Amino acid sequence: MERIAIGADHAGYALKEEIVRFLQASGYPVEDVGTHGEESVDYPDYAIQVARAVATGQADLGILICGTGIGMSITANKVKGIRAAVATDGYMARMAREHNNANILCLGGRVLGAGSALDIVQAFLQSRFAGGRHAGRVGKIQALEQAGTT
Ligand code: RB5
Repeated sequence: MERIAIGADHAGYALKEEIVRFLQASGYPVEDVGTHGEESVDYPDYAIQVARAVATGQADLGILICGTGIGMSITANKVKGIRAAVATDGYMARMAREHNNANILCLGGRVLGAGSALDIVQAFLQSRFAGGRHAGRVGKIQALEQAGTT
């Protein structure tokens, strides 16, 4: 089973708890970097921890949850080797893996109900990178990253 690093801010905390319970019940090893309550915190502090865990290989995949998923994805994508994608349905989550080889899923705790979010998580975890023509495209993203394009 893939090792999953997960983090959230206060707006994603409640949904994170649901997802952690689901992942553990499904047998995934989970590293939960917080936050651990409803007190207001800054999403970049959690995004960077999950992004580093994935980029260094300490985790295979990451899940980040804030109000919309957007702040988490913007932050996580600053880390080399990270392809973080916001998904609002199972199709987006599947395509994020199959076409974009995304390694972090970002969700909106103020956008999704728990049932929909768990469907999205399952779609993300069960999908695999399709390679082929998509490998060349992801390679172009990696080349931009290596070049430090401004
Ligand atoms: C917190 O209010 C909110 O801004 C944050 O959770 C997130 O949605 C940012 O992208």
